[in-house]
Amino acid sequence: MYPKQLTESVFLLGNPFVSIYLVKGGRFSVLVEAGLSVTAPQIADQLKQLEIDPTSLRYLILTHTHADHVMGAPLIKEALPHIKIAAVREARDLRLKPKITDFFTQEDAYTSKRLLDFEAVDPHLPQPTAMPVTVQEIISPDDTLDLGEISLHILDAPGHCRGGIALWEPREKTIFCSDSMGFHLPSGQFVSNFYVDYDAYRNTFETLCKLKPEWICPGHCGAYGGKEAKRFMAGAKRELDWITDYVTAQAHSKEALIEAADALFQRYFVDEATIFSPENTKYCMELLIRRILESKTLSPTVHSSE
Ligand SMILES: [Fe+2]
Repeated sequence: MYPKQLTESVFLLGNPFVSIYLVKGGRFSVLVEAGLSVTAPQIADQLKQLEIDPTSLRYLILTHTHADHVMGAPLIKEALPHIKIAAVREARDLRLKPKITDFFTQEDAYTSKRLLDFEAVDPHLPQPTAMPVTVQEIISPDDTLDLGEISLHILDAPGHCRGGIALWEPREKTIFCSDSMGFHLPSGQFVSNFYVDYDAYRNTFETLCKLKPEWICPGHCGAYGGKEAKRFMAGAKRELDWITDYVTAQAHSKEALIEAADALFQRYFVDEATIFSPENTKYCMELLIRRILESKTLSPTVHSSE
């Protein structure tokens, strides 16, 4: 199944847990998403299988600075020296903080091991260790990359992560949304993930849906075309509405909110989502609750518990 051609110009690389994309243009090509250290040799191997000229790859575009989306970057760069690691300024600055580097290195080691446990990567490929990420090219929301015949429009996608972006390819109507529209598990369970700002996330989600994408290319668990893309948007919206109502209903007491955090952990820490550490997932559940409580657009009853 991997690598897999999705459209005339887009290929899905990676594995059933981590999705990375090759976008081929007439002038140059790019990789969208960097994955983890353990997926970097897999990506290099898949590009070889596709017989991609390494010198045609101009950019490796980081969508946001979470460990599972950046830690593969220096190792992909090592395998493909021509490629330039590109990210928005905010993503680069966040990544430079030493505390974040340490945390990302730990998360990368944990998730990489889980991918080996799940046999999502070939254990015979060389297993690299994490290296610091250095961004070589700053890109900005509203920039357009003209790849030749196709173009990638860089869109601001706040809410999931500080400095998050999405990429829109209008000819084939493909949105590379990374984690900005939620995390879809093949079992059908969506994981809402507005870790930074609920209102901004909701706004990002609605803005991306209004583009009416034919292809949704998230950062995890494959890509979705045609009817599946529509089902993805409906399912992600349903989960967003569900978690909003659920947390709102628990906002009457601190005890109820503590129970809600546990219930969200039970709901979301399943299947493919268990590649992440339980400690980090628990922290993320607390963030989800906090962001709903902070939301400006939700009912005042949500705020009464604070
Ligand atoms: Fe993320």
